[in-house]
Amino acid sequence: MSKLPRSADPNLLVGFDHSDDACVYRLTEHLALVQTVDFFPPMVDAPYLFGQIAAANALSDIYAMGGIPRTAMNLLCYPACLSPETVEAILAGGLNKVQEAGAVLAGGHTIQDEEPKYGLCVTGVVDPARVLTNAGAKPGDLLLLTKPLGTGILTTAYKAELLSEQEFSPVAASMAALNRTAAEIVQKFPIHACTDITGFGLLGHAYEMAEGSGVSIRLFSQEVPRFEQAIPLAEMGLLPAGAYANAAYVEKQSDFSPQIPRALRDLLADPQTSGGLLFAVPHDQGKEICQRLQEKLPWTRMIGEVVDRQSYLLRVE
Ligand code: CO
Ligand code: CO
Ligand code: CO
Repeated sequence: MSKLPRSADPNLLVGFDHSDDACVYRLTEHLALVQTVDFFPPMVDAPYLFGQIAAANALSDIYAMGGIPRTAMNLLCYPACLSPETVEAILAGGLNKVQEAGAVLAGGHTIQDEEPKYGLCVTGVVDPARVLTNAGAKPGDLLLLTKPLGTGILTTAYKAELLSEQEFSPVAASMAALNRTAAEIVQKFPIHACTDITGFGLLGHAYEMAEGSGVSIRLFSQEVPRFEQAIPLAEMGLLPAGAYANAAYVEKQSDFSPQIPRALRDLLADPQTSGGLLFAVPHDQGKEICQRLQEKLPWTRMIGEVVDRQSYLLRVE
Protein backbone atom coordinates (compact mmCIF):
# COMPACT_ATOMS: atom_id res chain seq x y z
CA MET A 1 0.00 0.00 0.00
CA SER A 2 3.04 2.29 0.20
CA LYS A 3 3.39 4.61 -2.76
CA LEU A 4 6.78 4.92 -4.43
CA PRO A 5 7.74 7.41 -7.14
CA ARG A 6 6.49 6.70 -10.66
CA SER A 7 9.14 5.73 -13.21
CA ALA A 8 9.53 7.74 -16.41
CA ASP A 9 10.47 4.63 -18.44
CA PRO A 10 7.61 4.04 -20.95
CA ASN A 11 8.40 0.31 -21.06
CA LEU A 12 7.47 -0.06 -17.40
CA LEU A 13 3.83 -0.90 -18.15
CA VAL A 14 2.91 -1.65 -14.53
CA GLY A 15 4.98 -0.36 -11.64
CA PHE A 16 4.37 0.74 -8.07
CA ASP A 17 1.74 3.37 -8.67
CA HIS A 18 -1.40 1.18 -8.75
CA SER A 19 -0.56 -1.22 -5.91
CA ASP A 20 -0.66 -4.02 -8.47
CA ASP A 21 0.53 -7.58 -7.95
CA ALA A 22 3.73 -7.53 -9.96
CA CYS A 23 5.69 -5.25 -12.26
CA VAL A 24 5.42 -5.60 -16.03
CA TYR A 25 8.27 -4.46 -18.24
CA ARG A 26 7.97 -4.46 -22.04
CA LEU A 27 10.95 -5.93 -23.90
CA THR A 28 9.51 -6.00 -27.42
CA GLU A 29 6.16 -5.21 -29.03
CA HIS A 30 4.78 -8.65 -28.11
CA LEU A 31 6.80 -9.64 -25.08
CA ALA A 32 6.93 -8.26 -21.56
CA LEU A 33 8.52 -9.51 -18.35
CA VAL A 34 6.38 -9.96 -15.24
CA GLN A 35 8.35 -9.96 -11.99
CA THR A 36 7.37 -10.45 -8.39
CA VAL A 37 8.90 -11.44 -5.07
CA ASP A 38 7.18 -12.75 -1.94
CA PHE A 39 8.48 -14.47 1.18
CA PHE A 40 7.28 -14.89 4.75
CA PRO A 41 7.69 -16.87 7.98
CA PRO A 42 6.00 -20.28 8.31
CA MET A 43 2.22 -20.29 8.89
CA VAL A 44 2.32 -24.09 9.35
CA ASP A 45 4.86 -26.36 11.08
CA ALA A 46 5.09 -28.96 8.30
CA PRO A 47 8.12 -27.79 6.27
CA TYR A 48 7.15 -29.33 2.91
CA LEU A 49 3.64 -27.83 3.11
CA PHE A 50 5.09 -24.45 4.11
CA GLY A 51 7.33 -24.56 1.04
CA GLN A 52 4.37 -25.40 -1.20
CA ILE A 53 2.20 -22.61 0.21
CA ALA A 54 4.94 -19.95 0.07
CA ALA A 55 5.74 -20.88 -3.54
CA ALA A 56 2.07 -20.99 -4.63
CA ASN A 57 1.60 -17.58 -3.04
CA ALA A 58 4.60 -16.08 -4.87
CA LEU A 59 3.64 -17.62 -8.23
CA SER A 60 0.10 -16.28 -7.85
CA ASP A 61 1.11 -12.68 -8.58
CA ILE A 62 2.30 -13.73 -12.05
CA TYR A 63 -1.11 -15.32 -12.79
CA ALA A 64 -2.86 -12.22 -11.42
CA MET A 65 -1.15 -10.18 -14.15
CA GLY A 66 -2.17 -12.59 -16.92
CA GLY A 67 1.41 -13.94 -17.14
CA ILE A 68 3.02 -17.37 -17.38
CA PRO A 69 5.77 -18.15 -14.82
CA ARG A 70 9.12 -19.07 -16.45
CA THR A 71 11.88 -18.92 -13.83
CA ALA A 72 11.87 -18.85 -10.04
CA MET A 73 14.58 -18.24 -7.47
CA ASN A 74 14.49 -19.31 -3.84
CA LEU A 75 14.72 -16.81 -1.02
CA LEU A 76 15.48 -18.60 2.21
CA CYS A 77 16.35 -17.42 5.71
CA TYR A 78 16.88 -19.93 8.49
CA PRO A 79 18.44 -20.26 11.92
CA ALA A 80 21.55 -22.42 12.35
CA CYS A 81 19.57 -24.76 14.64
CA LEU A 82 17.15 -25.80 11.86
CA SER A 83 17.93 -29.36 10.73
CA PRO A 84 19.16 -29.90 7.17
CA GLU A 85 16.16 -32.23 6.62
CA THR A 86 13.75 -29.39 7.48
CA VAL A 87 15.52 -26.98 5.14
CA GLU A 88 15.46 -29.58 2.37
CA ALA A 89 11.76 -30.21 2.91
CA ILE A 90 10.90 -26.49 2.63
CA LEU A 91 12.85 -26.23 -0.62
CA ALA A 92 11.34 -29.47 -1.95
CA GLY A 93 7.83 -28.13 -1.30
CA GLY A 94 8.69 -24.95 -3.19
CA LEU A 95 10.24 -26.89 -6.08
CA ASN A 96 7.10 -29.03 -6.32
CA LYS A 97 4.96 -25.93 -6.98
CA VAL A 98 7.48 -24.33 -9.35
CA GLN A 99 7.43 -27.51 -11.42
CA GLU A 100 3.64 -27.74 -11.29
CA ALA A 101 3.58 -24.18 -12.66
CA GLY A 102 5.73 -25.33 -15.59
CA ALA A 103 8.53 -22.98 -14.54
CA VAL A 104 12.17 -23.78 -13.72
CA LEU A 105 13.95 -23.21 -10.44
CA ALA A 106 17.00 -21.24 -11.49
CA GLY A 107 18.88 -20.43 -8.28
CA GLY A 108 18.38 -18.48 -5.13
CA HIS A 109 19.89 -16.93 -2.05
CA THR A 110 20.11 -18.16 1.53
CA ILE A 111 21.05 -16.30 4.70
CA GLN A 112 21.02 -17.14 8.38
CA ASP A 113 18.30 -15.46 10.37
CA GLU A 114 16.64 -16.08 13.73
CA GLU A 115 13.22 -16.74 12.24
CA PRO A 116 12.87 -18.94 9.15
CA LYS A 117 11.40 -17.31 6.06
CA TYR A 118 10.89 -18.69 2.59
CA GLY A 119 9.52 -17.55 -0.72
CA LEU A 120 10.34 -16.97 -4.35
CA CYS A 121 11.33 -14.30 -6.78
CA VAL A 122 9.45 -15.22 -9.95
CA THR A 123 9.84 -14.03 -13.53
CA GLY A 124 7.10 -14.66 -16.05
CA VAL A 125 6.16 -13.52 -19.53
CA VAL A 126 3.06 -11.90 -20.96
CA ASP A 127 1.95 -10.32 -24.21
CA PRO A 128 1.78 -6.58 -23.42
CA ALA A 129 -1.67 -6.52 -25.05
CA ARG A 130 -2.92 -9.17 -22.60
CA VAL A 131 -1.68 -7.79 -19.30
CA LEU A 132 -4.29 -7.96 -16.54
CA THR A 133 -4.11 -5.24 -13.92
CA ASN A 134 -6.27 -4.34 -10.95
CA ALA A 135 -7.09 -1.04 -12.68
CA GLY A 136 -9.28 -2.12 -15.62
CA ALA A 137 -12.66 -2.78 -13.97
CA LYS A 138 -15.59 -1.10 -15.76
CA PRO A 139 -19.10 -0.20 -14.57
CA GLY A 140 -21.41 -3.16 -15.25
CA ASP A 141 -18.66 -5.78 -14.74
CA LEU A 142 -19.34 -8.77 -12.53
CA LEU A 143 -16.82 -9.92 -9.94
CA LEU A 144 -15.78 -13.55 -9.60
CA LEU A 145 -13.70 -15.07 -6.79
CA THR A 146 -12.10 -18.51 -7.17
CA LYS A 147 -11.07 -19.60 -3.63
CA PRO A 148 -12.85 -19.54 -0.26
CA LEU A 149 -11.99 -16.91 2.38
CA GLY A 150 -11.02 -17.70 5.95
CA THR A 151 -7.47 -19.03 5.65
CA GLY A 152 -6.08 -16.35 8.00
CA ILE A 153 -8.62 -17.05 10.75
CA LEU A 154 -8.31 -20.83 10.33
CA THR A 155 -4.51 -20.80 10.34
CA THR A 156 -4.60 -18.74 13.55
CA ALA A 157 -7.01 -21.28 15.06
CA TYR A 158 -4.87 -24.19 13.91
CA LYS A 159 -1.78 -22.67 15.55
CA ALA A 160 -3.80 -22.23 18.77
CA GLU A 161 -4.79 -25.92 18.51
CA LEU A 162 -8.48 -25.06 18.12
CA LEU A 163 -8.61 -26.90 14.81
CA SER A 164 -7.70 -30.54 14.21
CA GLU A 165 -5.28 -31.69 11.53
CA GLN A 166 -8.25 -33.09 9.64
CA GLU A 167 -10.24 -29.84 9.84
CA PHE A 168 -7.21 -27.86 8.69
CA SER A 169 -6.32 -30.06 5.73
CA PRO A 170 -8.75 -28.50 3.17
CA VAL A 171 -7.50 -25.06 4.24
CA ALA A 172 -3.89 -26.11 3.69
CA ALA A 173 -4.82 -27.62 0.33
CA SER A 174 -6.48 -24.37 -0.75
CA MET A 175 -3.40 -22.30 0.20
CA ALA A 176 -1.09 -24.74 -1.60
CA ALA A 177 -3.22 -24.76 -4.78
CA LEU A 178 -1.81 -22.78 -7.72
CA ASN A 179 -3.98 -20.15 -9.40
CA ARG A 180 -2.79 -21.60 -12.71
CA THR A 181 -6.07 -23.34 -13.58
CA ALA A 182 -8.12 -20.18 -13.07
CA ALA A 183 -5.67 -18.14 -15.12
CA GLU A 184 -5.79 -20.67 -17.97
CA ILE A 185 -9.59 -20.91 -18.03
CA VAL A 186 -10.09 -17.16 -18.37
CA GLN A 187 -7.52 -16.78 -21.15
CA LYS A 188 -10.10 -17.09 -23.90
CA PHE A 189 -12.36 -14.46 -22.32
CA PRO A 190 -12.04 -10.66 -22.27
CA ILE A 191 -11.18 -10.10 -18.59
CA HIS A 192 -11.17 -6.42 -17.58
CA ALA A 193 -9.27 -6.61 -14.28
CA CYS A 194 -7.68 -9.14 -11.99
CA THR A 195 -5.88 -9.34 -8.68
CA ASP A 196 -5.16 -12.11 -6.22
CA ILE A 197 -6.55 -12.02 -2.69
CA THR A 198 -3.68 -12.07 -0.21
CA GLY A 199 -2.63 -10.03 2.83
CA PHE A 200 -5.10 -7.14 2.46
CA GLY A 201 -8.09 -9.49 2.47
CA LEU A 202 -11.02 -9.34 0.04
CA LEU A 203 -11.94 -5.85 1.31
CA GLY A 204 -8.44 -4.41 0.84
CA HIS A 205 -7.88 -5.89 -2.61
CA ALA A 206 -11.38 -5.00 -3.86
CA TYR A 207 -10.85 -1.48 -2.52
CA GLU A 208 -7.61 -1.13 -4.46
CA MET A 209 -9.30 -2.46 -7.61
CA ALA A 210 -12.05 0.16 -7.23
CA GLU A 211 -9.58 2.95 -6.54
CA GLY A 212 -7.22 1.95 -9.37
CA SER A 213 -10.09 1.54 -11.85
CA GLY A 214 -11.89 4.79 -10.98
CA VAL A 215 -15.09 2.89 -10.13
CA SER A 216 -17.00 1.70 -7.08
CA ILE A 217 -17.61 -1.91 -6.13
CA ARG A 218 -20.64 -3.58 -4.56
CA LEU A 219 -19.87 -6.81 -2.72
CA PHE A 220 -22.59 -9.35 -1.99
CA SER A 221 -21.35 -10.64 1.36
CA GLN A 222 -23.64 -13.70 1.44
CA GLU A 223 -22.28 -14.92 -1.91
CA VAL A 224 -18.62 -14.85 -0.90
CA PRO A 225 -17.13 -18.39 -0.84
CA ARG A 226 -15.85 -19.21 2.63
CA PHE A 227 -14.71 -21.99 4.92
CA GLU A 228 -17.76 -22.22 7.22
CA GLN A 229 -15.69 -23.00 10.35
CA ALA A 230 -14.16 -19.52 10.10
CA ILE A 231 -17.45 -17.86 11.13
CA PRO A 232 -17.74 -19.24 14.71
CA LEU A 233 -14.01 -18.66 15.21
CA ALA A 234 -14.38 -15.04 14.08
CA GLU A 235 -17.34 -14.72 16.48
CA MET A 236 -14.95 -15.78 19.26
CA GLY A 237 -12.67 -12.91 18.20
CA LEU A 238 -10.01 -15.21 16.84
CA LEU A 239 -8.70 -12.85 14.15
CA PRO A 240 -5.19 -12.31 12.84
CA ALA A 241 -3.89 -8.79 13.54
CA GLY A 242 -3.92 -7.99 9.83
CA ALA A 243 -7.73 -8.22 9.74
CA TYR A 244 -8.01 -5.12 11.94
CA ALA A 245 -5.52 -3.21 9.81
CA ASN A 246 -7.38 -4.18 6.62
CA ALA A 247 -10.75 -3.13 8.04
CA ALA A 248 -9.28 0.22 9.16
CA TYR A 249 -7.68 0.77 5.74
CA VAL A 250 -10.96 0.56 3.83
CA GLU A 251 -13.27 2.02 6.47
CA LYS A 252 -13.34 5.69 5.44
CA GLN A 253 -14.54 4.98 1.92
CA SER A 254 -16.71 1.96 2.56
CA ASP A 255 -20.38 1.61 3.25
CA PHE A 256 -21.52 -1.52 5.12
CA SER A 257 -25.13 -2.59 5.24
CA PRO A 258 -26.03 -2.75 8.97
CA GLN A 259 -27.54 -6.25 8.57
CA ILE A 260 -24.16 -7.88 7.93
CA PRO A 261 -23.14 -9.95 10.96
CA ARG A 262 -19.91 -8.81 12.61
CA ALA A 263 -18.17 -12.15 12.01
CA LEU A 264 -18.92 -12.03 8.28
CA ARG A 265 -17.54 -8.50 8.10
CA ASP A 266 -14.40 -9.71 9.86
CA LEU A 267 -14.10 -12.60 7.41
CA LEU A 268 -14.12 -10.16 4.48
CA ALA A 269 -11.12 -8.40 6.05
CA ASP A 270 -9.28 -11.64 6.90
CA PRO A 271 -5.76 -11.57 5.41
CA GLN A 272 -5.35 -14.51 3.05
CA THR A 273 -2.26 -16.50 2.22
CA SER A 274 -2.25 -17.64 -1.40
CA GLY A 275 -5.92 -16.72 -1.87
CA GLY A 276 -7.93 -16.91 -5.07
CA LEU A 277 -8.11 -14.67 -8.09
CA LEU A 278 -10.65 -11.85 -8.17
CA PHE A 279 -11.78 -11.13 -11.74
CA ALA A 280 -13.82 -8.24 -13.10
CA VAL A 281 -15.53 -9.62 -16.20
CA PRO A 282 -17.93 -8.16 -18.77
CA HIS A 283 -21.53 -8.39 -17.59
CA ASP A 284 -22.84 -10.38 -20.56
CA GLN A 285 -20.18 -13.08 -20.19
CA GLY A 286 -20.12 -13.24 -16.39
CA LYS A 287 -22.37 -16.26 -16.10
CA GLU A 288 -20.49 -18.29 -18.71
CA ILE A 289 -17.05 -17.48 -17.26
CA CYS A 290 -18.33 -18.36 -13.78
CA GLN A 291 -19.61 -21.73 -15.02
CA ARG A 292 -16.35 -22.53 -16.83
CA LEU A 293 -14.40 -21.75 -13.65
CA GLN A 294 -16.78 -23.77 -11.44
CA GLU A 295 -16.23 -26.88 -13.57
CA LYS A 296 -12.63 -27.07 -12.34
CA LEU A 297 -12.77 -24.75 -9.31
CA PRO A 298 -16.08 -25.45 -7.54
CA TRP A 299 -15.58 -22.73 -4.91
CA THR A 300 -15.90 -20.01 -7.55
CA ARG A 301 -18.75 -17.55 -6.92
CA MET A 302 -20.06 -14.34 -8.41
CA ILE A 303 -19.56 -12.02 -5.45
CA GLY A 304 -20.28 -8.52 -6.62
CA GLU A 305 -20.49 -5.94 -9.35
CA VAL A 306 -18.76 -2.82 -10.54
CA VAL A 307 -20.69 0.47 -10.68
CA ASP A 308 -19.88 4.08 -11.57
CA ARG A 309 -17.79 5.87 -8.93
CA GLN A 310 -19.97 6.78 -5.93
CA SER A 311 -19.26 8.60 -2.68
CA TYR A 312 -17.93 5.22 -1.41
CA LEU A 313 -15.38 2.93 -3.06
CA LEU A 314 -16.87 -0.23 -1.54
CA ARG A 315 -20.44 -0.99 -0.65
CA VAL A 316 -20.89 -4.27 1.20
CA GLU A 317 -24.42 -5.66 1.20
CO1 CO B 1 -0.95 -10.13 -5.35
CO1 CO C 1 2.58 -10.35 -3.67
CO1 CO D 1 -2.74 -7.65 -11.95
